[in-house]
Amino acid sequence: MKIRKAILTGGGRATRLHPITTTINKHLLPLANKPMIFYAIEKAVEAGIEEIFINTNPGEKDLENFIGDGGHWGIKIKFFEQTGGPQGIAHVVNEAKDFIGDEPFMFYLSDNIIFGSLKPLFEEFEKNNYDCMLALSEVSDPQRFGVPIFDGNKKLIDVLEKPANPQNNFAVTGIYLYGPKLFFEAFQNIKKSDRGEYEISSIHSNFLKNNKNVGYKEITGWWKDTGKIEDLLIASRLLLEEMPETNFSNYGTIEDGVQIKGKVHIGLGSKIAKDVVLIGPIIIGENCILSNCKIGPNTTIGSGCEIKNATIKDSIILDNTYIDVDLSIANSLIGKNVKIIKKTTTDGRSMLIGDKTIVEI
Ligand code: G1P
Repeated sequence: MKIRKAILTGGGRATRLHPITTTINKHLLPLANKPMIFYAIEKAVEAGIEEIFINTNPGEKDLENFIGDGGHWGIKIKFFEQTGGPQGIAHVVNEAKDFIGDEPFMFYLSDNIIFGSLKPLFEEFEKNNYDCMLALSEVSDPQRFGVPIFDGNKKLIDVLEKPANPQNNFAVTGIYLYGPKLFFEAFQNIKKSDRGEYEISSIHSNFLKNNKNVGYKEITGWWKDTGKIEDLLIASRLLLEEMPETNFSNYGTIEDGVQIKGKVHIGLGSKIAKDVVLIGPIIIGENCILSNCKIGPNTTIGSGCEIKNATIKDSIILDNTYIDVDLSIANSLIGKNVKIIKKTTTDGRSMLIGDKTIVEI
């Protein structure tokens, strides 16, 4: 049976990315200057999904405003609130029960970024008539993920959520395919974990204990769960590296003398002064002003930013930020409307820093 519907995550607290995610939904953080969740939508559409249901935090309309009704991708997108707030990702799926009806579906954690296509996964699921299919990826830190447990014949026998001593180096990624109805039946039989969540791994464990036909496939190409800043920056770099040169254009004004190497995109209205060095891949948004600075590689700058005197690489800078300081900045995620400026007096550095901010100087 062909999968036409998908549930995508759009809610959650994203505490590991605080404080940035106290003012912006994690799924709207830009990767290569495109909201993270757009990658999930595009992969789903490419695999043949026609209807997407996205959960949102109660009262939050930002995702809906950004994404719209799906017309942009030629599909339908609907939003639903997770009643009672975040209670684990299996709970998100259960909340979408009425939308899914008795059709098969994909559940996709929108902070999972992949390079390859989902089509091979869909094809294998349909060909084998699986009840459930898990996408796996080899990682160096499986204890952070759901981990598949195999018997001696490579048969999947269980899935453990964040085990202290993982049996192997595979993570169950946040890309799951399910046959009709079974998920919702299994949900009736699972309990919240010690961290107070309905775990998706408990559903898979339940399937395997009840001899359901659960398949698995290793993801081709890279996979990143962008829950942590390090992984977010790596995903941004990988996306920039892979973006075809044709996606990089100059719509701004570049003075004679600017040094440019590699793939560089400059948005409309941006002005680059003659003493700037740009080392791609870089994406600079609209209406930015850059002077006497060195940017790149692997850096994205939002719109309305002004940067002077700094050296910045491997970083993501959001909109309307002002940097005027003779400093090297690397591996950083800098929010909107931030100011990093020179201190003009000598009585120590002065800062207005929000909760949970990390500054390494
Ligand atoms: C969730 C799942 C975990 C899975 C991971 C993939 O973990 O619970 O099984 O491996 O997503 O991204 P979380 O990121 O919510 O801790």
